[in-house]
Amino acid sequence: MPVTQKIAPGRLFIGGQWVDAVAANTFTTVNPATEEPITQVAEGRAEDIDRAVKAARQAFEGPWAGVSAADRGRLLWKMADLIESRLAEIAEVETLDSGKTITESSRVDVPMAADCFRYFAGWATKIEGETIPVRAPCFSYTLREPLGVVGQIIPWNFPILLAAWKVAPALAAGNTIVLKPAEQTPLTALRLAGIAEEAGLPPGVLNVVTGFGPTAGAALVDHPGVDKIAFTGSTAVGQEIMRRAAGSLKRLTLELGGKSPNIVFADADLDLAVRGASNGIFYNKGEVCTAGSRLFVEESLHDALLDRLSAFTAKLQQGDPLDPKTRLGPQVSEGQMNRVLSYVDKGKGEGARLVAGGSRAPGKGYFVRPTIFDDVQNGMTIAREEIFGPVLSVLRFRDLDEVVRAANDTPYGLAAAVWTKDIKKAHRAARLLKSGTVWINTYGLYDSAMPFGGYKMSGFGRELGRHGLLEYTQTKSVWVDLS
Ligand code: NAI
Ligand code: MG
Repeated sequence: MPVTQKIAPGRLFIGGQWVDAVAANTFTTVNPATEEPITQVAEGRAEDIDRAVKAARQAFEGPWAGVSAADRGRLLWKMADLIESRLAEIAEVETLDSGKTITESSRVDVPMAADCFRYFAGWATKIEGETIPVRAPCFSYTLREPLGVVGQIIPWNFPILLAAWKVAPALAAGNTIVLKPAEQTPLTALRLAGIAEEAGLPPGVLNVVTGFGPTAGAALVDHPGVDKIAFTGSTAVGQEIMRRAAGSLKRLTLELGGKSPNIVFADADLDLAVRGASNGIFYNKGEVCTAGSRLFVEESLHDALLDRLSAFTAKLQQGDPLDPKTRLGPQVSEGQMNRVLSYVDKGKGEGARLVAGGSRAPGKGYFVRPTIFDDVQNGMTIAREEIFGPVLSVLRFRDLDEVVRAANDTPYGLAAAVWTKDIKKAHRAARLLKSGTVWINTYGLYDSAMPFGGYKMSGFGRELGRHGLLEYTQTKSVWVDLS
């Protein structure tokens, strides 16, 4: 039986119990490929967040504090196994809820989520302090301690994967969690709560409260019992969170938007660069914070690359995301589709040349055709603002200095890529580009071991790897008099 027919309404997971929201409100989560409702989900608000934070605090000071690092690692490993054993089902739910293709859900998002739990399972026993030589006759050492209760707010573009990026390191370091998934895609975070329960995580260690940003999300940010907020989403909401967190001086890590330059030099391998340009912008229908939305092409290669890219794009199959042959699903919501289409209008209005797509696909579902604008100037709105959809801006350049200046002329700094066979040019560019990630002759690679995060207005703090783990710890210095 297809999963669609058996998705039960979602409840909140608080203190190890599945509960309705205090106010008993619910909201509908929609399949963006069909515009049909999938199921109802509990709408958590301030009073539900309060219950969840209290449960997380109790767990932090109670049972969780008594679980050894080795046992935390075993629990995380078990969660990885459970995610893998449910791979097909979680992938299908993810595709229904978000519109991402089943190929991506089942080959990338869900396996990488399991991998993330396994990677951080290994870290639990390797969080160590230091002994430090000091002037005084003292034995001085540091302890790496958890922060306490962590609020995690995630977006809708990689729901299960970003939940894993946040939950796994926080648990490895010994924190407890209140997770608030995006209202557009709440279903797989609830699956993750079920897996935590089944793995035997003590009640209250991971709480999941579904609901909307301005109510549930803001209540989590404002709650005095929360020690840190880890957020991924829009820059505007990141700024709002930073302002609000000032009151209680919560720790923050913010992973925000991007307008990443994808730079192709004339000496690049053309076939690889075309694929990289296409993947860079059309992967997950462009709903990717690191999308290579500004394609800079060296003047002499411009026409050849644009021809190939247009031909390649025309062949991308768009349609039912549950079909394994589909490469492009629908935008996550009607609102997001309209937002993307409004940028297409701005591109036309500001004089960019539309060479592919530019409209909604006919029929049901929030599909936007893969869109390419040529002759884009870096000052145009479509080159400055994050569109978060399948809309590519193509710009030309003449040399390294010019392209680095233009590439860095953006408030964002999340990722960048360079395509060239010249090793010196590649590494020089990598140093000059102001972004948290630089890919050379590839695009969009991630690994649980490799830190990820932004420069400039793309946010701060790192996720994944040792850097990501340490963001969920604080250092205590201990002095012992030996005189
Ligand atoms: P958003 O930033 O509003 O939503 C992300 C998460 O934040 C969701 O869980 C939402 O419920 C929560 N949230 C919203 N307002 C909040 C508040 N005041 N306090 C606490 N939590 C809050 O993003 P939205 O509106 O869904 O998308 C708009 C644009 O944001 C996109 O078009 C894209 O440009 C950007 N975006 C960037 C993402 C990234 O990965 N960097 C992910 C999602 C969106
Ligand atoms: Mg919003």
